Amino acid sequence: MMNTLNWAILGTGTIASEFADTLHQSGRPVFAVASRQFERAQKFANDHHVENAYRSYDELLSNPKINVVYIATPHSNHYELMIKCLEYGKHILCEKSITVNSEQLNHVIHLAKEKQLFVIEAMTIYHMPLYEKLNNLIANGKIGKLRMIQVSFGSLRVPDSNSRFLSEELAGGALLDIGVYALSFTRFFLNKQPDEILTTAKRFKTGVDEQSEIILRNSEDEMASVILTLFAKLPKRGIITGEKAYITVDTFPRAQSATITYPDFSTEVVTAGNTDDAMVYEYDYMNSVVNGEKEDTTLQLTTDVMELMSEIRKKWGIVYPFE
Ligand SMILES: NC(=O)c1ccc[n+]([C@@H]2O[C@H](COP(=O)([O-])OP(=O)(O)OC[C@H]3O[C@@H](n4cnc5c(N)ncnc54)[C@H](OP(=O)(O)O)[C@@H]3O)[C@@H](O)[C@H]2O)c1
Repeated sequence: MMNTLNWAILGTGTIASEFADTLHQSGRPVFAVASRQFERAQKFANDHHVENAYRSYDELLSNPKINVVYIATPHSNHYELMIKCLEYGKHILCEKSITVNSEQLNHVIHLAKEKQLFVIEAMTIYHMPLYEKLNNLIANGKIGKLRMIQVSFGSLRVPDSNSRFLSEELAGGALLDIGVYALSFTRFFLNKQPDEILTTAKRFKTGVDEQSEIILRNSEDEMASVILTLFAKLPKRGIITGEKAYITVDTFPRAQSATITYPDFSTEVVTAGNTDDAMVYEYDYMNSVVNGEKEDTTLQLTTDVMELMSEIRKKWGIVYPFE
């Protein structure tokens, strides 16, 4: 029998609102929200059916009734907030990108183990039922031996240097904002962590990466290529190809269907789950892990992706001012 956990949200922005609304619509409660400004927390609580509003993150965290914290702030402060959550004894579901580099992530994981708390990245790809289904199909030989993966992701952002997408202080850049999806997709399907990386990036005037291409290869000769941009539209498309067929996943971060194409161009559609429930899957997964009903399999993927992103950024020579 599942213990009911009290959930809280840090931050009142776009994704925090979506999280609270989706959970409310599915009948799942959120116990508390905190903002850096009390009025914002109160308004958020009213608008999004959250039971309690707090005037600061610290005040919320000091409530012993709260078990799990969902961190929905910019990338730049995930690390600091996760350390705080762990110090206060809370389990964590943290938005992507979970930290800005591997050093931060390793420290968080170390502390979480010490405190016997769970930390999970809210990476939709790891939680959409479609991905588990595709993984099983591939393991059963549906596409034959895996050869290559190709992922594209292009957003059309306004060139606002202060936005969280482009500000250096907020750890902006295409890699941490959208590249993390492309690399999580890639790592999810590759049989081994890549050990060869080729890459080039164009910087925005703030210094962050606005556009890049990344090529990966692992010791099993599986290869992947990723293209990212914050200033042009591209389909959010992932293709996984093997010796017998290829799989196309469109709008891949929250996909509910994929198409398998065979060498004779015949196709088969695979479906599982529901795009609109992406955040419900994350919430339910976290509850199962904390309640000991499921063993987490995602943190290793998160760690591998963060290692790749750290290496890639090293190659570009892009360092955030607070690093
Ligand atoms: N899973 C997804 O589909 C998805 C989609 C979009 C974004 N995200 C991720 O979710 C996180 C938040 O993104 P978002 O688009 O929701 O951002 P956002 O709209 O800018 O909201 C971020 C919130 O964080 C709080 N905050 C704390 N420190 C801040 C600071 N120094 N500057 C600005 N805000 C600060 C603010 O709330 P208060 O001031 O009220 O505390 C703010 O409302 C990011 O990690 C992002 O990558 C995920």
